[in-house]
Amino acid sequence: MSDGKQWVRVASASAIAEGEMLGVDVSGASVAVYHLDGGEWCATDNVCTHAFALLTDGWLEDGVIECPLHAGRFDCRTGKGLGEPIEEDLKVFPIKVEGDDVFVSVG
Ligand code: FES
Repeated sequence: MSDGKQWVRVASASAIAEGEMLGVDVSGASVAVYHLDGGEWCATDNVCTHAFALLTDGWLEDGVIECPLHAGRFDCRTGKGLGEPIEEDLKVFPIKVEGDDVFVSVG
């Protein structure tokens, strides 16, 4: 594609309802794909920056993902850690939806 990014198709959009999320592997990276209430999509690293837990095993509400292990919270859109015990922000990835296909770029 012409935007210089390497896009990888990761899911069918229709398989992830609003308010839900999915963990996918993209080129060896563990990525969390979020479909926020209101229709917005975003993607972050799926591994918590605090210790080892998959964020897609946690809880998603109002664009905030809460880690299942120690309840650390991150803004899904920016990856920003929202207080204790999180000290490091999450990596975020470009995401786009075309038709029913969801693409993420981890390059
Ligand atoms: S592992 Fe996520 S808050 Fe501790």
